[in-house]
Amino acid sequence: FLKAAGTLLATLVLAACGKQEAPPAPAASAAAPASAAAPAPKVYVVGTDAAYAPFEFQNEKGEIVGFSVDLLTAVAEKGGFQVKFQNTPWEGIFNALGQGDRDLLISSITITDERKQSMDFSDPYFDAIQLIAVKESSKVAKFDDLKKAKVGVQTGTTGDEVVTKLQGKTASTTKRFESTPLALKELEAGGVDAVVADNGVVIHYVANNPGAKFKTVADTKSFAPEQYGIAVKKGNAELLAMVNKGLAAVKADGTYAAIYKKTFGTEPPAAAPAA
Ligand code: ARG
Repeated sequence: FLKAAGTLLATLVLAACGKQEAPPAPAASAAAPASAAAPAPKVYVVGTDAAYAPFEFQNEKGEIVGFSVDLLTAVAEKGGFQVKFQNTPWEGIFNALGQGDRDLLISSITITDERKQSMDFSDPYFDAIQLIAVKESSKVAKFDDLKKAKVGVQTGTTGDEVVTKLQGKTASTTKRFESTPLALKELEAGGVDAVVADNGVVIHYVANNPGAKFKTVADTKSFAPEQYGIAVKKGNAELLAMVNKGLAAVKADGTYAAIYKKTFGTEPPAAAPAA
């Protein structure tokens, strides 16, 4: 019996070390019978409105890439789960989460009290603020100058919220677009006088479209600081815990800083991401 036990032990050690040439399946089941019966790991479906460079956008090959993709991929790795990204128009993105068509959303989503009522957010991962884009020749110097101007926003964004508040709910001067790039194209075409959107996206667009002859107008007195969060369906505490665990790990081990630097070319601001 002792000899048999010894042989079994040796087999187990070998299996555990992965030194056997034998196919991995039987070796694994000898070492840990439970894991052999475990179902294939669940792949969480992530919704993102991939028209938001440099955060989430499609490359020449049509792949969804950007800061958010790099970040959540790293977060999933550290949090011990798998993800697959699915382009999801902003217009229906929150419904898709609520209905269970998406398990997670990462789409430069600002954490707001209103949104918190219908979904749960991870710890914040990025600081943002609204920024005004105008033509170089524009006299707009502050947000208040846009009271009567034609202003482009992406429907249902925090940019839409602030402009709606400034101009009034029924103002015909608030021009709502399906995506932020469409609003910026309209500014280029002269159809609107300004666009109000997240700073990172506006800065990226202006830098990459010199022909558009835009400038940006910052107004930190008029705009509240915003923070992006990863969203899960309300009550999905298990997945949220995995996300937060992964997020804490990538912030702590330098992965976050590396992804930030890859995207923006600079170190993340010292205090960011503020908790
Ligand atoms: N941060 C803004 C918001 O949450 C805009 C986000 C838009 N994101 C996108 N991928 N289009 O309302």
